[in-house]
Amino acid sequence: MTKKKTITDLVNMKANGEKAAWAVVYDACFASYAEQAGIDMLLCGDSVGMIVYGYEGTVPVTMDISIAHTQAVRRGAPNTYLIGDMPFGSYHESTQDAVHNAVRFYKEADVDCIKLEGGVRVADKIRAISDAGMVVMGHIGLTPQSSASMGGFKAQGKTTETARAIIEDAFAVYEAGVKTLLLEGVPEEVCAYVHERMPIPVYGIGAGIQCDGQVILAADALGMYQNFTPKFAKKYADIAGEAVRGIGDYVSEVKSETFPAPENKYKYTGDKDDLQKLFDEMNARSV
Ligand code: KIV
Repeated sequence: MTKKKTITDLVNMKANGEKAAWAVVYDACFASYAEQAGIDMLLCGDSVGMIVYGYEGTVPVTMDISIAHTQAVRRGAPNTYLIGDMPFGSYHESTQDAVHNAVRFYKEADVDCIKLEGGVRVADKIRAISDAGMVVMGHIGLTPQSSASMGGFKAQGKTTETARAIIEDAFAVYEAGVKTLLLEGVPEEVCAYVHERMPIPVYGIGAGIQCDGQVILAADALGMYQNFTPKFAKKYADIAGEAVRGIGDYVSEVKSETFPAPENKYKYTGDKDDLQKLFDEMNARSV
């Protein structure tokens, strides 16, 4: 059985130059596969809105949806460091809201850390959650909850001015108390700089290799999501292809009456004459 990592283990991995491999999953089944495969951490991301619920973005995801899925992930991977993802609207209005909702993740879904998107503009929320004794991961760069104001799911920090904003965000969230930081969709040079300057573990998704580890959506890595695959994702399996093939085979076998086969059927173990008597009795009934 794997031993669940702590924030100290993550800090030690950084110190030892050991990369952390983590993934985004939304249910007990895939959480369990990831735990069996030796994943370092799991995030139950608000991308659940797109992958599982079919929304175009993450904005419609609610606290109740996030909590229910995070609970399922915890049940599937009881020995893995688990990050809860604060959905849009759960920390935007006030620091009280932010602490209240972060506490829900801790109490109801047994998370080890919570992640929230944004830099300078959410520093007060990070400070409040961290002061309440919870571990916070920052998420800057391409922040999907604000994709509308970014003009879509677009890489950030490609110019000097926007790279400066990302670096300012990194300093702001670090000073506010994050224990780890995720950079999404930024040039490798920008992530490498933030990584060099930050004393905390810095992870990337679409941010190059010069950081302390990588996260990927299991849906992208396993070829489950057909609507869109980001440039930075790599496909390690083709679950969508296998699923379509498998369901197609099932449809054919139902139509050709080759399913259910003898091994898929239950056997009657009672007395055959009694069964016939039962049928005769029932035949007297009109339907
Ligand atoms: O919700 C999510 O899947 C995420 C990843 C992009 C890290 O936040």
